[in-house]
Amino acid sequence: MAAAVGKTLSVGSTISAGSKSGPATHHKTMGVKLNSVARFSSFSGLKATSSVNQGLDASLLGSGNLVALKTSFVAKAVEQNQRLYKQLQTQASYKVAVLGAAGGIGQPLALLIKMSPLVSALHLYDVANVKGVAADLSHCNTPSQVLDFTGPSELASALKGVNVVVIPAGVPRKPGMTRDDLFNINAGIVKNLIEAVADNCPDAFIHIISNPVNSTVPIAAEILKKKGVYDPKKLFGVTTLDVVRANTFVAQKKNLKLIDVDVPVIGGHAGITILPLLSKTRPSVTFTDEEVQELTVRIQNAGTEVVEAKAGAGSATLSMAYAAARFVESSLRALDGDSDVYECTYIESDVTDLPFFASRVKLGRKGVEAVITKDLQGLSEYEEQALEALKPELRASIEKGIAFANKQPVAGA
Ligand SMILES: NC(=O)c1ccc[n+]([C@@H]2O[C@H](COP(=O)([O-])OP(=O)(O)OC[C@H]3O[C@@H](n4cnc5c(N)ncnc54)[C@H](O)[C@@H]3O)[C@@H](O)[C@H]2O)c1
Repeated sequence: MAAAVGKTLSVGSTISAGSKSGPATHHKTMGVKLNSVARFSSFSGLKATSSVNQGLDASLLGSGNLVALKTSFVAKAVEQNQRLYKQLQTQASYKVAVLGAAGGIGQPLALLIKMSPLVSALHLYDVANVKGVAADLSHCNTPSQVLDFTGPSELASALKGVNVVVIPAGVPRKPGMTRDDLFNINAGIVKNLIEAVADNCPDAFIHIISNPVNSTVPIAAEILKKKGVYDPKKLFGVTTLDVVRANTFVAQKKNLKLIDVDVPVIGGHAGITILPLLSKTRPSVTFTDEEVQELTVRIQNAGTEVVEAKAGAGSATLSMAYAAARFVESSLRALDGDSDVYECTYIESDVTDLPFFASRVKLGRKGVEAVITKDLQGLSEYEEQALEALKPELRASIEKGIAFANKQPVAGA
């Protein structure tokens, strides 16, 4: 294991920007908070220019004055930066591990997590090619330390002391494949990684990206149960991409400001099990029956849209990384005590007769604090029917995952 460290930060950019934000909204449209000072300090990163070099016009000043002014200005700026540095240092206190970090999702996801000032350490694990990714990323001047871990012998070290584990390890779809076609390979990968999570960071929030999420989350739950460390409040299937897509497509269709749009997406994360609740769109907007049908199908098939466009080169990676980074940031904010964090996610659930189900939840320090059942009340007829229609497929995927896990020997269980 090699340590690749970049322990500087991009100060000067983040803190002041938040004060210009707009009025608070009631509903939570985004995982990334949009209405507070904390928002910008919590997902900043890219802005690199320092205030030190701005606002000095040499033509108005003699050179002596310029030197004096620059000196005092620089001294002030340094002092200010030191204050901000301290502020950010106290914020950067969470450790995040990405398992499968050298992959199509893993790399951009690691980059986005590297931008978070809430992260003090970023552990990148993969079976191959992760050293270069970590070396590259470590040069970004954001607070977190980047460490790389290669292969099973370094997996335990990658996970020790980690607060959030994100799992995009596995194989992606090729054209013509369903997410379920990935089951045989990815089920085993997730099972092995979760065993290590159970042994090394049983209290961590676990974010599962590897498909088929409808089955890999139940697999993870069973393995954690066998290990005696299952906490259903901390195991999440990442369905944020469905929400991101729904928000984008609805905003496009209805000519709305993207940042305002919030569409809850419930059910599961494959085909018809993905159910966008268009009737619950905020801001309130009306759709014709044709629009509901068209948008619902597009949201359900958006992954396939990308798979086909990539023509054999994989599935969604960049939008997925964005969505996963948003879910990580939401988790970190919840861990940090923010009492205003809401996300849709696939979890063990009793809001329907299915044992696992995606819906909007409130996140807190201990994971899921509350399931927001209100979204499921007063559904349109179309949504009611779609909800009933998705249940057999989702149930079958859950049962397939549980059956797989129960056939597996679990080390140390
Ligand atoms: N939840 C979602 O919304 C969503 C969206 C898109 C893709 N996905 C899924 O995410 C997964 C990854 O997709 P990708 O495009 O990044 O694939 P990829 O093949 O580009 O990357 C996968 C990475 O996992 C690594 N890996 C394989 N076995 C491993 C193991 N045992 N331990 C650690 N790492 C291992 C590989 O070396 C590779 O670097 C796929 O299962 C894909 O279907 C989920």
